[in-house]
Amino acid sequence: MAPARWSGGTLDPLIPGFRLNYGLRIGNRSISVFPEPRGASVPGTCVIGLQWGDEAKGKLVDILTEHHEIVVRYQGGANAGHTVVSGGETWKLSLIPSGILRDDVSCVVTGGVVLDPASIIGEIDMLEGRGVTVAGKLRLSDRAHVVFPWHMAEDAILNGSVTGGEAIGTTGRGIGPCYRDKVGRSLALRLGDLYRPEFRQQFDHVLTAKRQLLEAARPAGAPPIELDGDAIFRQYSSYADRLRDCVGDTTHLLLDAVEAGRPVLFEGAQGALLDIDHGTFPYVTSSNSSGVGVDSGSGVPGRWINRVIGVVKAYSTRVGGGPLPTEQDNPTGEHLRQRGREYGTVTQRPRRCGWFDAVAARYTARLSGVDELAVMLLDVLGGLDELRICTAYEIAGKRVEQFPSHIDDLRQAVPIYETLPGWPEELTEVRREADLPVAARRYVDRIGELLGRPVTIISVGPDRDQTIFRNTAPATAACPPTNQQEQTTV
Ligand code: GDP
Ligand code: IMO
Ligand code: MG
Repeated sequence: MAPARWSGGTLDPLIPGFRLNYGLRIGNRSISVFPEPRGASVPGTCVIGLQWGDEAKGKLVDILTEHHEIVVRYQGGANAGHTVVSGGETWKLSLIPSGILRDDVSCVVTGGVVLDPASIIGEIDMLEGRGVTVAGKLRLSDRAHVVFPWHMAEDAILNGSVTGGEAIGTTGRGIGPCYRDKVGRSLALRLGDLYRPEFRQQFDHVLTAKRQLLEAARPAGAPPIELDGDAIFRQYSSYADRLRDCVGDTTHLLLDAVEAGRPVLFEGAQGALLDIDHGTFPYVTSSNSSGVGVDSGSGVPGRWINRVIGVVKAYSTRVGGGPLPTEQDNPTGEHLRQRGREYGTVTQRPRRCGWFDAVAARYTARLSGVDELAVMLLDVLGGLDELRICTAYEIAGKRVEQFPSHIDDLRQAVPIYETLPGWPEELTEVRREADLPVAARRYVDRIGELLGRPVTIISVGPDRDQTIFRNTAPATAACPPTNQQEQTTV
C-alpha cells in the first residue's frame, strides 16, 4: 500500500474548539499530524529532585495532584521511598505514584520503571487496607521490566565490587541488575511477557543462564544461591494474575491524554545527581533520574511538558556511597539528621547530611530544564546560628564553579562557602511568606539566586498544609545584604 502523502491534504482543526490540534485530511479521513504543544494548553508538569534523592518529591507531587488528572512514575523502581503526610496520617509509597491518595486521579507506571510485582502488590494491599481505592485507578505498562529474585541476589553480590573500591550502597532492590538485563536484552522479561504462552519457556531460558552467572559471581566461601525455578514461576504467575486488570499499553494512554490536553504530572524518583548518565557515576542509580529521563521513561515527548519544578531540600543529604562534598560528619550534620528525621524510607539507613550545595543543584537545575524551585524542609535549619551554602569548589588549588564530570575530581572538591545568618524560630506553624523570619526568606532567595530560578514553593513541615506558595519570586530579585563571607572549609 502506498504511504499517505502530504499533497492534497489540508490542515483542519480536528477537535472543534481545541485551537491548537491540527490534522491532515485525506479524502474523508483525518490524521492528527501536528498537535501543537506550546502555549497555554500544554498539559505536562514534572517534579524532579535536584540532589541525591529524598528531597520530599512525594509531598510535592501529592499537593500538585489536586490540579492534575494523571500522575506518572516513569523511571526507577522499588528503590524509591516517597512519604506523604496528610491530616496526621503518613503514607509511604515506592512504586505507586503519590497521586493515588486522591480519588479522581489516575496513576500510571510506565515502561521506564523496573517493576517488582511483590512490592507493588504489597503497596496496593497497604493502600486498600487503609481505605484508599486503587482498583481502576492504577495502570501498569506491559513494557515495564520485571524484577526477579535473581536480580536481588546479583545486587547483593555486585554492590560491593565497584571499580574504584567503595561500595555503591544500593537499596538491594535489584534495580541495577534488572536495568542491566533490559539493556542487555537477552535475559530480560517484561510485564507483558508474563501473560504470553511462551512465558514458561522464556523463564526457563533466563533461569538457566542466571544460575550459571550467579554461581560464577559467588564470592569465595559464600553459600550457593538457591533458585527454586518452579516456586518462582508459580509465584510470578500468581502476581501476574493479581495485576492482570492493571496491565496494558500506557504509552498510547499517555499520548492520548496529552494530545487531548489533559493535565498530566510526572513524578521523578531519586534525584538528578543519581542519574546514570549525568550523576556522580558510579555512585548513582541505574536510570535517568534527572529531567532528561522524562521523555524516554514515559514515552511522552518533552514538547508536552511546559512546567518543570526542581525540588531541593534546604540542605543536602545522601544515602549510600559516593562523595557528598558538603557533608558535615559533626554536630551540625547530627542536628540536621535529628530535626529532619533523616533516615532512609526504604532501608532505614541514616542519611548523610551537609550544607546546601549550590554548585551541584545549579548543574542539575540546568540539566533538568527547571523553571521554578520548591525549597523543602526549611524548618529543619531552625536553631542554627549560621548557615552555609556552597557556591564553588576548590579542586587541585583552583576555584571551580562547574560541577565536575569525574568522580575523582568531586572527591577532591573542597567546598567554598558563603555564610548567612540562621534563625532561632520554629517555622512549622508559618503559612504565609510574610510570616517567615527575614533570615529564612533571605536564605531561600539566595538559593533561587544561585540556581537562577525563582523559588515558588517553600515547605516548613511534612504535612500537606505546611506549605507556602509564593506568587512571584524572581530569581534575580535583590537579596537583602547578607554579610556573606566566602571561606574554604570542609
Ligand atoms: P522523596 O523520596 O523525595 O519523596 O522524599 P522522602 O519522602 O524520602 O523524604 C522526605 C522526608 O521529609 C519525608 O519523611 C517527609 O515526610 C519529610 N518532609 C517533607 N517535607 C518536609 C518539610 O518541609 N519539613 C520536614 N521537617 N519534613 C518534611
Ligand atoms: P527517592 O525516590 C535516595 C541510592 C541508593 C544508592 C544508589 C543506588 O526516595 O528519592 P539503587 O538501589 O538504586 O541501585 O541504589 O542510589 N538511591 C536513593 N537515595 N532516595 C532514593 O529514592 C534512592 N533510590 C536509590 O541509596 O546510593
Ligand atoms: Mg525518598
